[in-house]
Amino acid sequence: MAQNWTPGSWRQKPIQQVPEYPDATALAATEATLATYPPLVFAGEARRLKKQLANVAEGNAFLLQGGDCAESFLEHGADNIRDFFRAFLQMAVVLTYGAQLPVVKVGRIAGQFAKPRSSNVEVLDGVTLPSYRGDIINGIEFNEASRIPNPERQLDAYRQSAATLNLLRAFAMGGYANLENVHQWMLGFIKDSPQADRYRKLADRISETMNFMQAIGISAENNPSLRETDFFTSHEALLLGYEEALTRVDSTSGDWYATSGHMIWIGDRTRQLDHAHVEYFRGIKNPIGLKCGPSLTPDNLIELIDALNPANEAGRLTLICRFGHDKVADSLPKLIRAVEKEGRKVVWSCDPMHGNTITLNHYKTRPFERILSEVESFFQIHRAEGTHPGGIHIEMTGKDVTECTGGARAVTADSLSDRYHTHCDPRLNADQALELAFLLSERMKSGRDEKRLAIATA
Ligand code: PEP
Ligand code: CO
Repeated sequence: MAQNWTPGSWRQKPIQQVPEYPDATALAATEATLATYPPLVFAGEARRLKKQLANVAEGNAFLLQGGDCAESFLEHGADNIRDFFRAFLQMAVVLTYGAQLPVVKVGRIAGQFAKPRSSNVEVLDGVTLPSYRGDIINGIEFNEASRIPNPERQLDAYRQSAATLNLLRAFAMGGYANLENVHQWMLGFIKDSPQADRYRKLADRISETMNFMQAIGISAENNPSLRETDFFTSHEALLLGYEEALTRVDSTSGDWYATSGHMIWIGDRTRQLDHAHVEYFRGIKNPIGLKCGPSLTPDNLIELIDALNPANEAGRLTLICRFGHDKVADSLPKLIRAVEKEGRKVVWSCDPMHGNTITLNHYKTRPFERILSEVESFFQIHRAEGTHPGGIHIEMTGKDVTECTGGARAVTADSLSDRYHTHCDPRLNADQALELAFLLSERMKSGRDEKRLAIATA
C-alpha cells in the first residue's frame, strides 16, 4: 500500500478548485451518509479494465473514452442514456473494424458531475455570482440561491450515477449490444447524413460475417462475446470529499479502490505534484487518467508518473493529452521522448476537445476541423516516434445538438443557438462523433498496413 496514505490524507495538502460550502456540519453529515452507501462499482471490475488498458499500453488495443462534459440532473433520462450508448457503440464498431484491434469502451458517464472552472465568478449584465461547478455542487441557474454549494446534491449525484450505471449494465449485458443489432444502432437523424451510407455498408459486412459464422455454428446465442460487451465508467474525480466517502477496501486484495467509477482522472488544473488530488490518487488502485496540457514539462510528467505509478504497472496510467491543434506538435514529442527514455508504461490518449475551445456569437464552441487536425497530428507524431497512439477522449452526445461547428452536415456559427444544450463545454453530436470514428479507423488501418508491410519486408 502507498506509504502514509489514507483515503483522507489529501485533506492535509493544498487544494485547487474546491467549492466553499457555507455549512461545514451539513457537508460532514452528507459525507458520513455517503460512506454508508453501497459502492457503485467493484474492485474486480476496475482490475478488469486495468488489464484491458495494459493491452492498450502494449499496443494491442485501442481506448475509446467519451461522454458529456458535465452530466446534468435535468437531462437524466432513459432516452439520453440510450442515444449516447448507441452512438458510442457505433463508434466502437467502426474503430474495431478499422483497427482490427479490441476497443476498450469507457464512458464519461455515471459520475461526471464536478467541473473545474477558469474563474471563481461569473458576471452577467453587471451581476457577479459564484461560478457554476457542476450539478454535484451547485445549480446552473444564474441566481444567488442556486449558486450556493449544497451538499445534498452529492446524494442526488450518487443516486443518478447508480441509476445510469444500472441501465448501462443492462444495455451492455442484456442484449442491446448484441452485434446482430448492428443495423439497429443507426440513429434516426443519422439516416440522411453522409455517415449513414458508410455505416450501413460496414454494418452489412458485419452482418454477412455473422451469417457465415452462424452457418458454421458460432452464434450470439452460444457466444457471449457476440452478444455482450464490456462497458466501463469514468469521471474527473474533482470533488475529493465525495470520492473519499466512496473509497473502500477490496476484501480480496486488501487494497483501496475508488468505487464511484471504474476509472477516474485528474484534471489539467489540479495536477500539482504536492497537492491534494495527486495525494488522493496515489493511494487508490483503479486505473487512472492524468490530463496533460501545454504547461506540463517532461520533468513534471516524470515526477507525476513516479508518484502515481511507482511500480510501472501497465494499464494503471493513461495520459490524456489536450494541447490544442496548434500546440500538439510542440508539446507532445518531448513528453513521449521523456516517457520512452525512462521506460514508463503508459496509455497515450488524445483529447482533441479541451485545447480547441473558442467563442463565436457568445457561444463556447469547437471547430470540428481543429478537432480532426489535433487527432491527425497525434497519430502522425506517434508514428514518427514509434509509439502507440492508444486512444481518444471526447466530449460527445447521442443527440443532434449544435455545439461544435463544422462536420459533414455543417453546423455554422449562426446555427449554434439552434440546439445548444450542454451544461459546460461543447460536445460533438452523434453525426460528428461517427465522422471522427471513420477518420480514426482509416488512420488505424493505414498504421496497421504499414506495420504489416514492415514485417513482410524485414
Ligand atoms: C474536462 O475533461 O471536462 C476538463 C475540464 O478537462 P481539462 O482538465 O483537460 O481542462
Ligand atoms: Co469539458
